[in-house]
Amino acid sequence: MAKKALETQIITAGRSAKWTQSLVNPPVSRASTVVFDSVESMKKATANRANKTLFYGRRGTNTHFAFQDAMVELEGGVGCALYPCGTAAITNAILSFVKAGDHLLMVDGAYEPTRDFCDKVLAKMGVETTYYDPMLGEGIRDLIKPNTTVIFMESPCSITMEVQDVPTLSRIAHEHDLVVMLDNTWASPINFQPFDHGVDISIQAATKYIVGHSDVMLGTAVANERCWDQLREHSYLMGQCTSPDDVYLAMRGLRTLGVRLKQHEENTLKVARWLAERPEVDHVRHPAFPDCDGHEFFLRDFKGSSGLFSVVLNRGNAEALTALLDGMEHFSMGYSWGGFESLILANENINRLRTAKKHDFAGPMLRLHIGLENVDDLIGDLEAGFERLNVVLAQQ
Ligand SMILES: Cc1ncc(COP(=O)(O)O)c(C=O)c1O
Repeated sequence: MAKKALETQIITAGRSAKWTQSLVNPPVSRASTVVFDSVESMKKATANRANKTLFYGRRGTNTHFAFQDAMVELEGGVGCALYPCGTAAITNAILSFVKAGDHLLMVDGAYEPTRDFCDKVLAKMGVETTYYDPMLGEGIRDLIKPNTTVIFMESPCSITMEVQDVPTLSRIAHEHDLVVMLDNTWASPINFQPFDHGVDISIQAATKYIVGHSDVMLGTAVANERCWDQLREHSYLMGQCTSPDDVYLAMRGLRTLGVRLKQHEENTLKVARWLAERPEVDHVRHPAFPDCDGHEFFLRDFKGSSGLFSVVLNRGNAEALTALLDGMEHFSMGYSWGGFESLILANENINRLRTAKKHDFAGPMLRLHIGLENVDDLIGDLEAGFERLNVVLAQQ
């Protein structure tokens, strides 16, 4: 059979009749207890409990199994572990592969709670973290120690949006037998295929684009053959499990991921290009822009972009930014992204979250998530915001 196109896979993935009972969508199967009518069937379920067999609610039900199959089909790998949020996927993936005395390489541009986990939890356990410059390629060799076990990437990086050279870092990491983990949330399985680029474990904050409607928290970690058994069993031992209602909604979100991302991309590029021309803007930080760090890796490795990017302003301060942000009509302020709605956040001091490489930006940053609204409405909203910013700056 010919390989299915990604658009088709998004529609069909995980819809085996075994899970769906021949409905289009798998039913929401809620369970703590699974009951058996014979010793034989109980023994069989126990023997197969790690392999999508009804055994006990914590191991999942058919709703979970359908979504796990779908994620594996779309991202690659051999198995998918589910977590109550993206952060739990990150922390449990790391915890599954480190022990006291180990050393971890963490990208300097990681999502803030990922850094916090390294600094506040791993450090307490005796696991040392070295933050590395996201633009390191061959130079990563110098940071690998005899006790390094994991390299973690997030590409593009949170807020500053550097695109990493994932294949080069993965190749070098494998020469040293490290486990390669990637937070692939920005691209989703649509725009970056992690296992084609050497990743061992691909993490999604499914909370963002997969769910897509800002109403569910969920995380996934898809692993290859090398890492699946250990990831699955350690995550299970740590009691990680998810509600079938949430998983159902994630599965429903997944079906429209392709079309949503296309529209996010189109809207975002229009807004970003408009912003790049504004006198208030020093530069736009978006992987599809030629001056973005790692743009060449974006062109080489990604199929497209999504809706999250940042801009650096020429100047600004808390009062002026407040005037801009407080009056927005279509953009809301919120800590998440990946839903259908536009969001905006100010970041006055990115260097608080960077240790390997500090940035010397002209002014404060805005992080935007461009939703599915009409682009002219969004641009009009930003234009009015800049007017409010300029009024305050002129008075100072
Ligand atoms: C890149 C990235 N990874 C992971 C997460 C964490 O996801 P969750 O909020 O589901 O814990 C976020 C959340 O903003 C994120 O931006």
